[in-house]
Amino acid sequence: MSGFDRVLRGGTVVTATGVREADVAIRGERIAALGRDLPPGREEVDVRGRILTPGGVDPHCHIEQLAATGLYNADTFETATRAALAGGTTTVIPFAAQHRGMSLREVVEDYHARAARGAMADYAFHMIVTDPRPEVLEEELPPLVRAGHASLKVFMTYDRLRVDDEQLLDVLAAARAHGCLVCVHAENHGMISWMRKRLVARGYLAPKYHGVSHPRAAEAEAIQRLAVMSAFLDQPVMVFHISTREGLRAFARARADGVKIFGETCTQYLLLDARDLDRPGVEGAKWICSPPLRGPEDRKALWDALATGLLDCVSSDHAPYRMDETGKLARGPNPGFHEIANGLPGIELRLPLLFDAALEGRHIDLPAFVRLTATAPARIYHLPAKGDLTPGADADIVVWDPEVTWEIPEGPRFDDAGYTPYAGRRLRGRIRTVYRRGEPVVVEGEVRAAPGSGRFLPRTGGEAARPLGRPAPEFDPARNFGAELL
Ligand code: URP
Ligand code: ZN
Ligand code: ZN
Repeated sequence: MSGFDRVLRGGTVVTATGVREADVAIRGERIAALGRDLPPGREEVDVRGRILTPGGVDPHCHIEQLAATGLYNADTFETATRAALAGGTTTVIPFAAQHRGMSLREVVEDYHARAARGAMADYAFHMIVTDPRPEVLEEELPPLVRAGHASLKVFMTYDRLRVDDEQLLDVLAAARAHGCLVCVHAENHGMISWMRKRLVARGYLAPKYHGVSHPRAAEAEAIQRLAVMSAFLDQPVMVFHISTREGLRAFARARADGVKIFGETCTQYLLLDARDLDRPGVEGAKWICSPPLRGPEDRKALWDALATGLLDCVSSDHAPYRMDETGKLARGPNPGFHEIANGLPGIELRLPLLFDAALEGRHIDLPAFVRLTATAPARIYHLPAKGDLTPGADADIVVWDPEVTWEIPEGPRFDDAGYTPYAGRRLRGRIRTVYRRGEPVVVEGEVRAAPGSGRFLPRTGGEAARPLGRPAPEFDPARNFGAELL
């Protein structure tokens, strides 16, 4: 007897490195074997004609998160991860968001409790640091990193979230000392607030002016500045949600210069357009996110950067707000663009939208789809059991029917945003089953996981801890570095 609990037989298996016909055997929570004509398992599942990919890893999504305005985004861990599973994403990395004056340790405890109650997908956290005061970086951060929170996010813009350059250096140095990846919202704050004030003063308040208020150059400038600081302290960074050609160029230059810099874009920057904001009344509010949606040349450059491997992954940046007084319209029924919560829902459709593109051969192929949505995020964020179909990995598997074409309905969806910006699109490829650690948690559109059944994934053994403060033996003042002396 093989001892396999389940064998998915006769499917087409896609990994980041290729496509092959193979059976997939599952024992307990893990993949036990991959190959042709595997011995029978206790349960045999016929997946002939289906495509099997690893469960998605969404490395950037906002779930049950408190905004600086006091608003919670629309989803709880239960509704967001229900949507994630329905769309084939079995692992998520949302945020534990510190606001100014808060204890980072208490914030992480709070998000842990929320996730333990509701999560259906497996999860880790990025810590959002908005208040990098010494006690946070010196006393709270080190034990949190040791407990498995191996990444954090900082913002270079947003009045109530941003860190200035000196604080950014403090965060980079602390991250280096304790072995933590720093993810960054990179946009030049001064340019955005300068534009916003002028637009508002002139009465340009419609949602479409949100896009104008975030100049393209603001992204490029911040990425360039971040790269310089990252190189100065030799600390790896991840640039979140790159949206423009100019930003990509700054990113590519930094990569070429040898800076340890990762980059992601998001589904919306690949598929939606700044013109989506230009709708009657406040309807465009549904498309407001930051960075804002851009134009066709940006989309082409972003797809090219995915195809060539310049960018590392595609996240959803799921940040759902309902079109009512709890969300986008919290400041009244007719808010100006600057009074509308930023963010779009997208955790459920990230995989189906990109799978459709890959299946149709638009811009990326199927292995690139797997690399960008599962394997690379799992590797970058130190989730060794996730993101791949290989013996020993968690049996997180999406079974796709490539023959079905379907139309994305207006709603309701599995999340709680109440709308999707992708309604009406036709997609090829439908999810039939999703396995999470060997169990079918989605079957023909029905989500069967229990709230709280998602598992916390501590990320240890990630970045090496490299404290500053060891004077370099051959310090040369002419090189004008200095960081190695700190
Ligand atoms: O508009 C967005 N993306 N809101 C979420 C916060 C962020 O900056 O990622
Ligand atoms: Zn951001
Ligand atoms: Zn985000």
